[in-house]
Amino acid sequence: MLKRIAIGFLGLCVLGALGLLALAWRSSIAPIDPPAAAGFPRELIAKGEALAGAGYCATCHTANGGAPYAGGYGMATPFGVVYSTNITPDPETGIGRWSEAAFARAMHEGVARDGSHLFPAFPFDHFTTVTDEDVKALYAYFMSRPPVVMFLLSCSSGVGQQFTFSTVPLGQCPDWTLKANLSRVL
Ligand code: HEC
Repeated sequence: MLKRIAIGFLGLCVLGALGLLALAWRSSIAPIDPPAAAGFPRELIAKGEALAGAGYCATCHTANGGAPYAGGYGMATPFGVVYSTNITPDPETGIGRWSEAAFARAMHEGVARDGSHLFPAFPFDHFTTVTDEDVKALYAYFMSRPPVVMFLLSCSSGVGQQFTFSTVPLGQCPDWTLKANLSRVL
């Protein structure tokens, strides 16, 4: 009897976990060819620039001494170090293939273009209230920045990869190491 109850309970747990997974799963949004910077109205880009300043996007998305918005800035969390991503329109290492819909979803819901959830180190919960008009302006601003190729290297293996999370403590994987490795890759 007890065994039955236990099995029943386990079954419920599995169902619950599957349910949560289904809720957490988000679809990927199709990649696009990076839009031409010239296609965005000047006023919209200017508005986006002001919003980017107000949202401190550069503070988190620029490594010490690194190219603006190319990412690689490390933030210590209780679980490890989260590195910001490249939000310049480079098609491979940045957000060049993100449609406006994908960008808007990231801003509003903290979900990346591929459907994966972003670490809450990206303060999307502060951005959820940003209006669609503001997201449009931010998108125009970022898509008209110069694209920067930016790979972060895993400081433990030295292998180039796209990563935003490392368990190596911040001080032991300084930004300059990331950048030094970077120039070797490029
Ligand atoms: C407090 C630091 C912080 C601020 C401020 C910040 N971000 Fe981020 N952002 C992050 C981190 C960290 C990630 C990576 C999260 C992850 O990979 O899970 C990220 C991810 C993103 C992504 C997803 C990119 C990708 O390749 O997956 C976009 C888009 C983005 N940020 C845009 C912005 C914009 C626009 C602003 C300003 C309005 C901004 N961020 C301000 C920390 C920040």
